[in-house]
Amino acid sequence: MSLLTTLTRMWVTRSFKSFTFTKHYDTFLSYQECDQLGLYIHIPFCKQICSFCPYCKVLYKEDVYQDYIEALIKEIHMIGSQYPDKKEVTSLYFGGGTPALADKDLKRIMEVVNSYFIITQGIGLELHPDNVTIETLARLKEAGVTKISIGIQSFQSKFQHILGRRNILDQAMKKALDTVSFETVSMDFIFALPHQTFDDLVNDIEKAFSIGANHIAIYPFIDFTFTKSSIPVMRKKEKRKLLDDITHYCQNKGYQRQSIWTFSKEKASYSSMTRDYFLGFGVSAATLLKDSFKINTFDIPSYIQRINKQTIPTSLTMYFTKRQRMIYYLFWTLYSTEIDSQSFEEIFNVSLKKVYGLEFYLAKKMNLLTKENNVYKMTLKGAFYYHYYENFYTLSYIDKMWSILKEEPFPNYISL
Ligand SMILES: C[S@@+](CC[C@H](N)C(=O)[O-])C[C@H]1O[C@@H](n2cnc3c(N)ncnc32)[C@H](O)[C@@H]1O
Ligand code: SF4
Repeated sequence: MSLLTTLTRMWVTRSFKSFTFTKHYDTFLSYQECDQLGLYIHIPFCKQICSFCPYCKVLYKEDVYQDYIEALIKEIHMIGSQYPDKKEVTSLYFGGGTPALADKDLKRIMEVVNSYFIITQGIGLELHPDNVTIETLARLKEAGVTKISIGIQSFQSKFQHILGRRNILDQAMKKALDTVSFETVSMDFIFALPHQTFDDLVNDIEKAFSIGANHIAIYPFIDFTFTKSSIPVMRKKEKRKLLDDITHYCQNKGYQRQSIWTFSKEKASYSSMTRDYFLGFGVSAATLLKDSFKINTFDIPSYIQRINKQTIPTSLTMYFTKRQRMIYYLFWTLYSTEIDSQSFEEIFNVSLKKVYGLEFYLAKKMNLLTKENNVYKMTLKGAFYYHYYENFYTLSYIDKMWSILKEEPFPNYISL
């Protein structure tokens, strides 16, 4: 960990204490007291593995898949039955891997989820472009999915080639999306690929909206240390210009910025990141409660073994200090490009000005944030630096944690 990361952490948390995760795990998850709780389910199977992808996934094998789905259902029962009453939650997102590969079991999974939780803001699910067929979409819709997100990456063959993926059959995709409708159809793109230009991205965005998307996510390419990718990283200056130009373009076209990397037409939304609290099921799924963060084991056989012993499959747990929890909240809330100081006060019982008045004052002076009433809003400059810091955070914290968890199902201790 670099000196800069350590100093930043010490400054914002006002403590020498690092973020420490241990093997210890709770047998009871106190989620009933969390308002605005979201759910997440991880399906770690793909029909092909992309060399640049950091997520927890394996190649699809029918027998492993079947055993995994049975264990997943048991985990939802185990945690959902901790409380006698149904819990109201905001949304449920299925991520992966490629969760659309579980289409035939989705109804069964949803029956179990619905027996413990009341979902008020819809169900989202990720698809690989190969899954966008009328048959699969109809199955997803029948199971209650209201939002879909398709991993396009790029409509252009030169970038698909760099990423090692196949070209998109856009007209077949349009036909399927015209036939089966969803409240949100989001399409994912990766930007800052070698020699990618503003025009390349504009073409991708416009094509997405013309074939049925009403929401887009443009993720900056991140070169994780543990992936086998050989894609070169774009220089900072070039990347900033691209991000600024694309943001201006989307704003001028009237597309609404929903979060740091997402834009929508109409009121469509798709985000599993900006939730105050969440409960995660399945391998690698994270859970965020009032005072703790937990992450499940990444190893499928170890996950199944724990579940069969009626034990929660948490691999690592961190108990936050109050300041650590505040920083975690601010960091992920800023992902939506704004922070409501009143919401902060409701959650932490202390005013934002009192705890981080100096930092927010400096951020305003540096033109990173503006303030309207109680809400701090990110400027274009602020969005770039957030993006830059997020990249840095991802490589300093998430990269390190995931690379260990990929090797060890239950490490003793990680300090970040
Ligand atoms: C779980 S995948 C999406 C669903 C499906 N598995 C697929 O590949 O189409 C989630 C998204 O993460 C993004 N992603 C994956 N690796 C990335 C990387 N190294 N840098 C930036 N974004 C990445 C891609 O845009 C991808 O669509
Ligand atoms: S990008 Fe999607 S298909 Fe490729 S390995 Fe990652 S999760 Fe699987």
